[in-house]
Amino acid sequence: MEARALLAGGKARVDKQHEAGKLTARERIAALLDEGSFVELDKFVTHRCADFGMQEQKILGDGVVTGHGLVDGRPVCVFAQDFTVFGGSLSGAYAQKICKVMDLATKIGCPVVGLNDSGGARIQEGVESLAGYADIFLRNVLSSGVVPQLSAIMGPCAGGAVYSPAITDFILMVDRTSYMFITGPEVIKTVTHEEVTKEQLGGAMTHASKSGVSHFTEGDELSCIARLRELLSFMPGNNSEDPPVRATKDPADRADAALDSIVPIESNKPYDIKKIINGVVDDGQFVEVHKDYAKNIVVGFARFDGRATGIVANQPNHLAGCLDIDASIKAARFVRFCDCFNIPLVTFVDVPGFLPGTNQEYGGIIKHGAKLLYAFAEATVPKITVITRKAYGGAYDVMASKHIRADINVSFPAAEIAVMGPEGAVNIIFKSELDKITDPAEKAAARSRFTAEYKERFANPYKAASLGYIDEIIRPRDTRWTIIRSLRTLANKRQTNLPRKHGNIPL
Ligand code: HXC
Repeated sequence: MEARALLAGGKARVDKQHEAGKLTARERIAALLDEGSFVELDKFVTHRCADFGMQEQKILGDGVVTGHGLVDGRPVCVFAQDFTVFGGSLSGAYAQKICKVMDLATKIGCPVVGLNDSGGARIQEGVESLAGYADIFLRNVLSSGVVPQLSAIMGPCAGGAVYSPAITDFILMVDRTSYMFITGPEVIKTVTHEEVTKEQLGGAMTHASKSGVSHFTEGDELSCIARLRELLSFMPGNNSEDPPVRATKDPADRADAALDSIVPIESNKPYDIKKIINGVVDDGQFVEVHKDYAKNIVVGFARFDGRATGIVANQPNHLAGCLDIDASIKAARFVRFCDCFNIPLVTFVDVPGFLPGTNQEYGGIIKHGAKLLYAFAEATVPKITVITRKAYGGAYDVMASKHIRADINVSFPAAEIAVMGPEGAVNIIFKSELDKITDPAEKAAARSRFTAEYKERFANPYKAASLGYIDEIIRPRDTRWTIIRSLRTLANKRQTNLPRKHGNIPL
């Protein structure tokens, strides 16, 4: 029986899987887990369907390989859908196998990794299959924020089946061999007369750049699996543990003179915030999440002093670093993930404000921007904020300001913290003075005098520092040490919110 189970859907189907550039379920699990650590469960489970001749076709394991093992020596529960068995389609028995490992993961407090490659509901099983999906969705929801859940999409994932990965914390897709959609190209053609290919509709790049459904696109399956292992290294097993610490030789007090000249003197000139991030994190290693989506904000994982940290940063290189709908949602979800799993947050701020426009207003920037404000405000993990240049208007408040419980707020000396930029402010507060001047040259001179006066008084960090909203003005070269020192100070931070059933984040 052991040998029969390992044959899965048979040699011909396994060969077809390989020809398509895909590994089998067991090959994927072997690549994911530490060598020899996999313990398979329910290898002999078969389906219970007796319709459409299914009673004659029983394959041991029934199309999903489940069990537990180790990643870097830490326990992980895993399920891998096996496309060689009934196209990886989900039966009642198959769903029970997945639910069993998900229940085990919440009992023992370890992450769940799902490797998805399936034709969806097993058509011959009808509603029993739909019930099985719902049993999984329920567990996805109830274990959200309790144990990390990661989904890799390594083949088809269509229809309601997409909602299990969608609820998990991170979705990774393999370029060209995976796709996700609610309704496929044929149905779309019938209903809306749009013509679209599977790849355009739900391929890896579509979801990485357009919809934001997926967080990572990987060139092949082994890179995808390596990424899963890397992501797990930043996460604790569950919400009552701290993330693992990885020793580093990078000195905590490493000062980097190059950082002093990354932010341009001219406040409207773009620069790449990732140069600052890479310059301050341990060994220059930053794992960017959602890198092709809402590029005006950068989020991802790094380590300081060996400790896993979540980084959120405005990106002046894209839309001048404005907050818009997509950026707010992207960052809010990341902040909430970090807060669930005790991962401290470091926020780099260079934000001119919220992006203006009817698209944004009609799209609901009010409720979406509020998500980011909500996420930062409710987070109780250590929060450190570094203002590198602009922090204007509502966006100043939203981007982990002191007022919404950031613990340590520092700023570079050339930062500008005010209600709005000098040009806009002068037009409003000196309007009547400017209106009185008729001579254009005189008007221009007055305008630049007023602008200089405004800059002197407001476009700097000293007013905020005098009020205690900024704890310290630091030289850019000292950023790494300042962050590490702050994280050490905050290592035992304990903060709780008032008891409640749950908050009502503006969805
Ligand atoms: C039963 C299925 C199946 C399914 C595939 N197979 N999907 N068996 N139920 N849903 C079987 C095929 O019969 C075939 O069996 C084998 O798997 C491989 O399928 P192929 O079609 O040969 O493979 P390929 O050409 O690569 O096409 C893959 C595919 C296609 C695009 C996924 O199989 C397909 O369109 N399947 C149906 C998808 C679908 O409509 N699913 C229901 C969606 S609704 P043999 O024996 O020939 O190898 C849904 C609702 C979920 O999922 C609701 C949750 C709330």
